[in-house]
Amino acid sequence: MMRVGIVGLGIIGQALAKAIDQGEVAAQLTAVHSRTVEKAQAFAHTLCRVPEVVDLAGVVARCELVIEAATQAVLSTLAPTVLEAGKGLMVLSVGALLHYRTLFQGLN
Ligand SMILES: NC(=O)c1ccc[n+]([C@@H]2O[C@H](COP(=O)([O-])OP(=O)(O)OC[C@H]3O[C@@H](n4cnc5c(N)ncnc54)[C@H](OP(=O)(O)O)[C@@H]3O)[C@@H](O)[C@H]2O)c1
Repeated sequence: MMRVGIVGLGIIGQALAKAIDQGEVAAQLTAVHSRTVEKAQAFAHTLCRVPEVVDLAGVVARCELVIEAATQAVLSTLAPTVLEAGKGLMVLSVGALLHYRTLFQGLN
């Protein structure tokens, strides 16, 4: 089953995490990262299968697909790290695709 990580555990990130945890998506939520570690830890422990709460690099290392559900600014750091590692990236802060076009230039 695909190992998925989520960066940003607000409204969107928590909804996606719950959907994966409840089996609505055929994936395993392996790792998460968010700005406020205590909040991330508390949320992670509400899930049936508790994901690891790690830093950005930790999410990338552990997962095949990284879901960004944080902010446009986070994407500027996250996108190169994820793509250079050859991992999949799902972008929720879609407005960043306008502001950070160069991040994705040259990709197939
Ligand atoms: N809500 C929607 O309906 C919707 C629809 C489409 C797209 N989006 C986009 O999706 C993104 C997330 O939306 P949201 O509604 O879930 O936002 P949100 O409720 O404000 O949650 C954002 C999350 O990102 C975390 N975060 C902020 N800065 C971070 C950083 N530097 N590193 C790691 N985590 C960080 C926040 O942590 P803290 O807990 O510390 O605050 C929070 O958990 C936004 O860019 C939004 O524009 C949202």
